[in-house]
Amino acid sequence: MDDDALAGTRVLVIGGNREAAESLRSQLTAAGSPSVDLVPSLEFVAAHAAAAQPQVVLSLADTDPAAVRARLDPFGLDAGPPVVPLSELVADGEPLRPAGLGRLRLVLEHRAMRARLGELEAIVASQALSALRDTEAIRVDTLARLARAAEYRDDNSPEHTQRVAALAARTAHHMGQEDRMVRLIRHAAPLHDLGKIAIPDSILLKPGRLEPEEYEVVKTHAVLGARVLADGGSEVLGVAEQIARSHHERWEGDGYPDGLAGERIPLVARLVGVADVFDVLVHERPYKEAWTVEDAAREIRSGAATQFDPAVVAAFDALGAGSWIAGIAPG
Ligand SMILES: [Fe+2]
Ligand SMILES: [Fe+2]
Repeated sequence: MDDDALAGTRVLVIGGNREAAESLRSQLTAAGSPSVDLVPSLEFVAAHAAAAQPQVVLSLADTDPAAVRARLDPFGLDAGPPVVPLSELVADGEPLRPAGLGRLRLVLEHRAMRARLGELEAIVASQALSALRDTEAIRVDTLARLARAAEYRDDNSPEHTQRVAALAARTAHHMGQEDRMVRLIRHAAPLHDLGKIAIPDSILLKPGRLEPEEYEVVKTHAVLGARVLADGGSEVLGVAEQIARSHHERWEGDGYPDGLAGERIPLVARLVGVADVFDVLVHERPYKEAWTVEDAAREIRSGAATQFDPAVVAAFDALGAGSWIAGIAPG
């Protein structure tokens, strides 16, 4: 074993008689240790360790290593230097080198590797977490941009999609949906009319009433929007697809595009269906005046179990006027 096997390694030796401890010190120093602190008994070990900051503690035959560990790491946090009984390195009375020194090196290297591994695990975990957050943030941002694009093709004010999403999310929360689902609805619902991007201006922006065949073209916006959002590989896009496809379904099954009835209509679409109609009613459109909040709420109630899910209408009703017109504010 070469003379610098313990180069840079500070050692604390505890226990033993003076002679045995001094002999060990000279062997450790000869192996390159820059500092060998001798501590006669347990009661001083914590103070010495705090001052000398050893990388390893060697306990001699008369000292219980578990008792030393208990002093150095009272809360069992796997903190502090390793405590190695000298008897694990060499037989009683034998010199430390070369075999004992080799074992001591292994203990120290193992310890250093474990610490490095712990650091690497923490780095990988934090990177994985931030990558996850980034992906989620990118998805939400992309959806918000798509929603904004859809607003250019709508006869509603730009805030319409955001107000609908906020009201649908509040209703969902009131129905006891968990926070995660409420957030998904809030991010996905602004895309309910995304498919209008593909409807020709001549129909979408036509003043006055639509001919029946023109109305059939407008109705395709549900399927077209869902097609844009399909196979997105994320929960929020999946919810957005359901909303885009089914927000014009009616509880009794006479809506479009699939004629779904009752609970076969995805709940997220039933929620947006109510919020969408309410918001359109209370705001002015080229073809109609703005309704009062109470008149619009009455219209929603009267659609329970025919156009709308009665449970969604009940939750909407329970929210009350303050919440219906709270706009895009959360809560
Ligand atoms: Fe729509
Ligand atoms: Fe809408």
